[in-house]
Amino acid sequence: MALIFRVLDGRRHLGLIAASEGYRRLKAAQRQRDGIAATHLLIETTRPARIVAYCQLSIAQLYLHQWREKDRARLSVHPVPVLRIDRIAVARPEKGKGHGRLLLGHAVNVALSLRGPLGVRAVIVDAHSASLAAFYGSFGFHPVANEATTRYLPMGFNDSRLVPD
Ligand SMILES: CC(C)(COP(=O)(O)OP(=O)(O)OC[C@H]1O[C@@H](n2cnc3c(N)ncnc32)[C@H](O)[C@@H]1OP(=O)(O)O)[C@@H](O)C(=O)NCCC(=O)NCCS
Repeated sequence: MALIFRVLDGRRHLGLIAASEGYRRLKAAQRQRDGIAATHLLIETTRPARIVAYCQLSIAQLYLHQWREKDRARLSVHPVPVLRIDRIAVARPEKGKGHGRLLLGHAVNVALSLRGPLGVRAVIVDAHSASLAAFYGSFGFHPVANEATTRYLPMGFNDSRLVPD
């Protein structure tokens, strides 16, 4: 099956995404409605009305003391712009097929594309359970200091499985 990413167009598709698995979080819907985050849908080219998975992305910032010392070596001023994954979800029947990894890779590509234009230097996400912390940790995300659930993946992440050999 051929898959593509499509950025959700304003309020137009909110009904569609609200019906998809895992999109019950009011905040995520509000961010989309208010236009302060972008929802990226993973869809099949032959069945565009069916959402396989999605991630919601926005811009955030991290203070230098929240980074590991080795990651802030070339940074001297804060706060530092970062790409935030507000929400990531894979439709129930589609779990375990690599779509979560694909979404993370997509978020990393978006972050890399914003490094030049906006100075984005990391991807952050909230891992609300030990299982999700393990999921993100397996891709090279590290805990953010003083934030119990937040994890970050610094740019230049040669140790991440999201970067091809
Ligand atoms: C977490 C989630 C995004 C993973 O998506 P997925 O498509 O099932 O994951 P993938 O098939 O891409 O798995 C990639 C790797 O992560 C591992 N993994 C998947 N889910 C995991 C979990 N919950 N905990 C730890 N590891 C996990 C897989 O074993 C796989 O490892 P491998 O590369 O060594 O084979 C998905 O289960 C989901 O939508 N969960 C519900 C929504 C949610 O909790 N979102 C997070 C809030 S932001």
